[in-house]
Amino acid sequence: MSLTRKHLLILVGLVGLLALTACTREITTVVQEEPQPSTCFECHSDSDLKVVYAEEQWALSKHGEGETLAEGAQAGCVRCHCNEGFIQYVADPARLTYEATNSPSNIGCFTCHAPHSNGNFGLRITTPQPLLNGVSFDLGEGNGCVVCHQARRDVAVYITASNSINSRYGPHHGPQGDMLLGTNGYEYAGYTYGDTPYHREMNEDGCVNCHMRTVGLDMGGHTFNVTAVNEETLAETFNVNACKGCHTDIGSDFDFNGVQSEVDALGLQLRGLLVTANLMVESPAGSGIFVPKTASGVSAGNAGAVWNYMYVMVEDKSHGVHNPDYARDLLQSAINYLTPTVQ
Ligand code: HEC
Ligand code: HEC
Ligand code: HEC
Ligand code: HEC
Ligand code: HEC
Ligand code: HEC
Repeated sequence: MSLTRKHLLILVGLVGLLALTACTREITTVVQEEPQPSTCFECHSDSDLKVVYAEEQWALSKHGEGETLAEGAQAGCVRCHCNEGFIQYVADPARLTYEATNSPSNIGCFTCHAPHSNGNFGLRITTPQPLLNGVSFDLGEGNGCVVCHQARRDVAVYITASNSINSRYGPHHGPQGDMLLGTNGYEYAGYTYGDTPYHREMNEDGCVNCHMRTVGLDMGGHTFNVTAVNEETLAETFNVNACKGCHTDIGSDFDFNGVQSEVDALGLQLRGLLVTANLMVESPAGSGIFVPKTASGVSAGNAGAVWNYMYVMVEDKSHGVHNPDYARDLLQSAINYLTPTVQ
């Protein structure tokens, strides 16, 4: 999306208003912090290409597509699914309830930035953010991402001695913040869990480093995506430039040292065991989509195996890259639990 003629006309109108009110000092415009008219053109001019690029990239993003925008009509979902709820959070991060909106707007420029209040593209949020389980996420410019990209359930509270399971069981839906920190998986007693700290410790802006900092064709920047799909051939391209700063020897995809293949294979093995144990089911039959099977009185160990599968294989979506060792171990420990002969 670029600034349309309509926007520019409104803009010129507002600038005119500002000029008029300048003599009487009665500020009647919608602009809150009285920026001088000239500052409007720092961003609203034909030559500010960085705004134009950001808009074009954003239009290619899932945030820009806004498929789940309608969830903003529910108070429990508004914080993460549209602009309006996020702004409520920024105004008061300690609030416990949110107001739903009937006209949700996209997670867009004004969600993460406040250019008209600040006159620049500084971020609304850069302070550390708490995950639901209390662990603090502190990765600079990535902190704003984790307001939304975190689990909505704390495994330590969610899983008890006897559990009810249904097709919507799991951390829900964007637990990438938890995974990067290596937390909130179901950890079996007696198993030692690995952790790959480098993707956070050597990456001071976390999510932003890999998802935004390097731009490929239709990837990186404000697409927020590390992959791009060619709509005609359906071929996928991977933005390995995001990795090359550290992994100079990486190939043309993210399967570095075969780790993604290994994680996917463990996931398949675990899914087989879960189906055999009547904990997951293919639904509809033949679709290739597997969901947790409705049941009650499920033991903690069994529920934990379902949780780990949903967390790593369905909801994190990085096939292990966010935290290779933790992802592998969550799957392996669940496999061991469901295969009593393996210890
Ligand atoms: C730091 C950059 C920046 C500055 C300075 C700035 N704007 Fe904007 N403005 C934006 C961005 C980004 C958008 C969103 C563009 C879009 O949605 O296509 C926008 C959108 C708008 C819109 C359309 C509103 C909407 O909801 O789509 C108007 C009107 C506008 N600006 C007026 C102004 C006026 C008047 C000034 C000066 C007083 C100003 N802007 C200064 C960045 C800026
Ligand atoms: C803490 C933030 C947060 C809250 C609260 C939240 N969601 Fe989400 N939801 C997300 C994120 C982030 C994604 C995108 C995850 C991804 O694509 O990896 C998502 C994705 C989804 C999806 C798409 C799932 C898919 O597999 O494509 C649906 C549907 C959804 N959410 C429904 C809801 C509903 C309904 C509610 C309220 C009951 C809700 N969400 C509350 C953060 C949240
Ligand atoms: C989900 C959050 C998010 C949304 C939505 C978003 N941005 Fe950004 N934007 C960021 C982050 C994070 C950075 C810092 C990137 C970096 O440091 O590499 C940034 C950086 C920028 C910069 C570069 C600032 C500079 O000084 O170099 C511009 C310009 C910008 N955004 C414009 C926009 C515009 C225009 C839109 C709407 C089309 C938009 N952004 C939507 C998060 C967002
Ligand atoms: C206001 C909440 C919010 C913020 C802030 C946010 N996201 Fe998202 N993000 C979402 C939701 C919701 C979706 C799913 C969009 C949909 O399906 O409509 C999503 C989708 C995505 C996707 C695509 C996922 C897929 O399944 O293809 C990526 C990648 C992503 N976000 C990365 C980021 C990064 C990086 C940041 C920080 C710069 C960020 N997000 C900030 C809520 C948010
Ligand atoms: C070390 C680099 C790296 C870091 C740091 C990182 N990601 Fe990712 N992320 C990836 C890669 C690589 C993939 C995709 C793997 C694939 O598609 O094969 C991915 C996938 C995703 C997806 C799913 C996108 C899709 O197309 O399915 C989302 C959403 C996401 N990351 C969000 C985040 C958020 C939020 C953070 C910060 C908490 C983050 N990522 C940190 C590299 C990173
Ligand atoms: C800031 C530096 C940095 C960036 C950027 C980075 N990594 Fe890493 N990554 C490391 C370090 C250090 C290790 C541990 C040493 C090693 O295995 O090379 C590691 C480990 C890994 C592993 C586990 C390797 C194994 O054999 O267990 C995978 C997989 C991986 N990275 C993938 C990626 C991908 C894909 C990207 C880009 C999306 C990426 N990394 C970006 C620093 C980084």
